Amino acid sequence: MFERLKKLKPYKTETTPCKIKLSSNENPFDLPLWLREKISKAIREVPLQRYPDPHSTELKEVIADFYGVRPENLVLGNGSDELIHLLITVADDYNRPVIYPVPTFPMYQVSADIVGREKIEFPLDENFQLKKERIDRALEKNPVLAFYASPNNPTGNSFDRELILYTADKGVFTVVDEAYIHFSDKEDFVNEALKRDNLLVIRTMSKIGLAGIRLGVLIAREDIASELDKARLPFNITYPTQVIGKIALTEGREAIEKSIKIIKLERDKLIEKLKKIKSIKVYPSDANFFLIRVPDGNLLHKKLIERGILIRNMSHLPNMENCLRVSIGKPEENSAFYRNLLKILEELGWE
Ligand SMILES: Cc1ncc(COP(=O)(O)O)c(C=O)c1O
Repeated sequence: MFERLKKLKPYKTETTPCKIKLSSNENPFDLPLWLREKISKAIREVPLQRYPDPHSTELKEVIADFYGVRPENLVLGNGSDELIHLLITVADDYNRPVIYPVPTFPMYQVSADIVGREKIEFPLDENFQLKKERIDRALEKNPVLAFYASPNNPTGNSFDRELILYTADKGVFTVVDEAYIHFSDKEDFVNEALKRDNLLVIRTMSKIGLAGIRLGVLIAREDIASELDKARLPFNITYPTQVIGKIALTEGREAIEKSIKIIKLERDKLIEKLKKIKSIKVYPSDANFFLIRVPDGNLLHKKLIERGILIRNMSHLPNMENCLRVSIGKPEENSAFYRNLLKILEELGWE
C-alpha cells in the first residue's frame, strides 16, 4: 500500500456514548419544531436522482446576506474541514510549509499530512496567546500558508489581532478560521479579507446548529474566491444541504441568534461558578466551550463519563496536561455537569 498512508493516523473523535454530550462544540439546541416540519416537507420534494446546483447559487445568496458580503465573495465547503483541505492542497510549492500555533484545531495538521506538506507548529505562550518572536521564527521557514483559529480550539481565546495581520503583512497567505466567531464580541476579519489579497476567513454552520448538514464557508475578495472555487469539487454541497441551509439561515435565523445568546450567557455563568473552585483553573473563552485545568484530567474525565457526562480530554496534547474542554450545553445539561462535578470533587477530596 502507499507509504504515505501507512504513516497516517486516523482522525479520532470522542464517541463514548453518554447521556449528556458536552464534547464536540455543537449547538445543543434543535431548530424549532415548525421549522423542522417545513424542512421535512422541502426534503420530500428534493429530486434525489438529480445532481444539485454545482454553484449553490440560491444558498450562496442566503449566506451572503447572513454574513453581510456578496455571493461572489464565497466558496462553500462540505464543512470547513473541506475548505481547510482545499487550501492546503492548492497552495503553491509543496516544499514550502504551512505554519500554525499549537495547541489548535487538528485538521491543519491532518490535512498537511494527507497531502504530504511540511508543517511548522509553533507554541502559544502560557496564556495560549501568540508571541511575535515565535511567529518570526516560523516565518524564517518561508511558509506558503498560515492558519490561525481565532477564537482558538481547544483553548477558547482569541488571538492578538495585530499579530495575525502582521503575518499577512509579511507576505504569507493567512487563513483566519472563525469557526467560533458567533460566540465572540471581538472584531472579526471579514473586512480585512475583503480588502487584502492574502488573507481570508473561514466559517462554519456546524457550531451554530447545523453540524449535520456539513456546510463551511470561505470569505475572500472576489478574485481570490473565484480562483479558489476552481479547485472545489463540483457537487460538494449536496441537494439536501442546499435546501436545509436556505431554510435554516432565513426562517431559522431568529432561532439561531437566540440560541447563540443563550449559549454565551450559559458560558459566562458556568465559568463564573467554576472560578470559585480552587482546584480548577478556568481559561477565558470567546467560544461555545471553555477549557479547564484540574489536578488529574484523565481521572475527572473518567469520573464524569461514569455519571453519563462526556467532555473532551485534552491531557494528551503538549502544554495541555490535565486540561479538559467543556462544550456549553442546554441549561439543564450545564447544571447537571456542575452538580456532578461538585460531587466528584468532594469524592476526590479536591477543594
Ligand atoms: C477551529 C475549527 N475550525 C473548523 C472546524 C470544522 O468545522 P466543520 O464542521 O465545518 O468541518 C472546527 C470543528 O471543530 C474547529 O474547531
